Amino acid sequence: MFGLGTTNSMTMDKPHPDSLLDTGVQGVIGKPLDRVDGPLKVTGTATYAAEYEFANMAFGVLVGTKISSGKVVSIDVDAVKSIPGVIDVVTDFDRFIRVAAQGGATDAPTQGVKDIAFFGQIVAIVLAESFEVARDAAARLPIEYQASEGQYDFAAHRDETRKPADDATQAHFAQGDVDKAMDDAPVTIDATYVTPSQNSAAMEPHASIAVWDEDGSLALYGAYQMPTSDAQQLAKSLGVSEKKVRIIARYIGGGFGSKLGIAPESVAAAIAAKQLGRPVKAVMSRPQVFEATVRRSNTEQHIRLAAGADGKLTAIGHETLVSNQSTEDYFEPAGIGTHMLYGGENRMITHDIVDVNLVVSGSMRAPGEAVGMMALESAMDELAEKLGIDPIELRRINDVTIDPEKDVPFTSRNLTRALDEGAAKFGWDKRQKAGTRREGEWLIGTGVAAAVRGNMMQESSAKVEIHPDGSATVSSAMTDIGTGSYTILAQIASEILGIPVANITMALGDTNDPPAAGSGGSWGATSSGTAVYLACEMLRGKLAKAMGVDEDNLTLKDGTAIGDNRSTPIGELVGKGLEATGHIKPGKQEKDHTQASFGAHFAEVAVNAVTGEVRVRRMLGSFAAGRVLNAKTARSQCLGGMTFGIGAALTEDLIHDLRTGKLVNHDLAEYHVPSNADIPQMEVHFVDERDIHANPIHAKGIGELGISGAGAAVANAVYNATGIRVREFPITLDKLL
Ligand code: MOS
Repeated sequence: MFGLGTTNSMTMDKPHPDSLLDTGVQGVIGKPLDRVDGPLKVTGTATYAAEYEFANMAFGVLVGTKISSGKVVSIDVDAVKSIPGVIDVVTDFDRFIRVAAQGGATDAPTQGVKDIAFFGQIVAIVLAESFEVARDAAARLPIEYQASEGQYDFAAHRDETRKPADDATQAHFAQGDVDKAMDDAPVTIDATYVTPSQNSAAMEPHASIAVWDEDGSLALYGAYQMPTSDAQQLAKSLGVSEKKVRIIARYIGGGFGSKLGIAPESVAAAIAAKQLGRPVKAVMSRPQVFEATVRRSNTEQHIRLAAGADGKLTAIGHETLVSNQSTEDYFEPAGIGTHMLYGGENRMITHDIVDVNLVVSGSMRAPGEAVGMMALESAMDELAEKLGIDPIELRRINDVTIDPEKDVPFTSRNLTRALDEGAAKFGWDKRQKAGTRREGEWLIGTGVAAAVRGNMMQESSAKVEIHPDGSATVSSAMTDIGTGSYTILAQIASEILGIPVANITMALGDTNDPPAAGSGGSWGATSSGTAVYLACEMLRGKLAKAMGVDEDNLTLKDGTAIGDNRSTPIGELVGKGLEATGHIKPGKQEKDHTQASFGAHFAEVAVNAVTGEVRVRRMLGSFAAGRVLNAKTARSQCLGGMTFGIGAALTEDLIHDLRTGKLVNHDLAEYHVPSNADIPQMEVHFVDERDIHANPIHAKGIGELGISGAGAAVANAVYNATGIRVREFPITLDKLL
């Protein structure tokens, strides 16, 4: 309305030293605000995907294969169709896609019997008037198979590897001569660490309700992290135009990677709903979530470290074997943090895939660093012990200011500060030599590990509207998967626009709103936060113009615009309403720098000398991730990550039966994520940091930083307590006796 256009688009090509978040006077940014969606969640009124109600809705229950390798010969649909209440069985199973690593749909369907690549592969959806009838019929559905020999034992096939096809992700990297450096160095570590398969274990199972409109467009109420790209995938799987698919994902009960891409339930629900001409709901059972979405691959990581007597690294080797199905190129990038964490001239980082007929591998909770740091940071602890150098000092010695491989600076990097500030708070100076501290039958030890997690920006947009009553609305296809997006995005808008958070309505998780990269890879807060920032920056300019003051003289606070000794309610400046859309995409800054968040984990454990039981007694995480947008939600993110670190170190272990490929522990009763009783006193410390190169809000990703390195700190504490180095995770008590 003021002739300024409505889109503020920016490519991150140069540093952005001045942030409106520093000049805002609302005083809300960084504050530990309660989640704005909290009341809805604790009162049970936030609507999750499976909770929408539609007239004439049919209930779908998915059916998975009972063998791990072979072919489906026939599915006897007629055998269950006569059950009262059963509507139909859809067996167009070729399109019940497997979830490719980053969620890519498999190619166009072929006719006839399809190969079975893993146990539990979805081949049918049974539709009934009630969930109970559908479940009963699904259990009875006769399927005839022709079984063939599958490959289920990673260890037995570990020498039959293939290189990942796409090397954009640095699957294979070499610099200098690691072998020679190992020969020449006075002190070396050469050890192999093994991590098991893991499951994301989000509390909410994958769930979809598909509703087709008469005009051939689909609305899918789903539980997905990245609705914009998920809608594209879904459209591709269904063979319809992207414009015809809308995903609504207002509330999501955790994702942890398992909901980055679409899963079979959405495709099945959509196909069935189309065929029936009725809305269809499909909710995966817990075992189906385990079997037919994604796992984190198991890893075997060969670490070699060469150092001088002064502790300075001369070589790092990090060679990783992972597993996946033969049609998949995704590999767990365990060495990804190793590229940038420490110096050392000679470097070798590789990843190779062993083909298996097991649950497909994909991204889960800090893919790469979470398990890669378990190995690297255990090895660093071993090196410190061998050198007789304090583990923190060893890391300080090998800290760098320039990326050791790309020869570019970091956008910001405060590893040593995170270590030092954390050590002071934790009381690291009271640490004793390995195996020397005992309280009754408990052996006590402390451990440290560094944390690193790459920081990414992803193209995202958001719309902000100011209404005549002075309230505002923020809308975007961004999601809140339980992490606090609703709250921090409202805080950013509030800080810049001077509108109280209580007067800002948040509308996330709908692809009808401006596209966004969604929640994944710890990019959500900074990418969508920047989009909101840019929209608000433009609105601020429009408000200044409407008021007739220079932008530099404009103060926005508590719903009032103040400038040139005048003040006006903001709502009175917007006419019928003002709106702006912010749009950010990564640019040159990404190429000219390496971007990552850094940190340090400290753990104190007690190991029972009689039973081998490990109890984490306390843990402290110290994190340098740029500006903290909300001290409470940021802390909660870190606590969650540290908890997963304890799980990775001590309890989580997704086990396949090596004879049949079947998952042994496909539910939360037998797949052990830590429960409250396993979690001790935890403290989170944030290093004061701003990143002017990463984005205008000066923040970096934090969601996955908390897990990266956390497991190694626990393992290193177990070593300090017992003198026993366990290199095969999880550290169960049998390995300590
Ligand atoms: Mo994350 S594994 O990118 O949700």
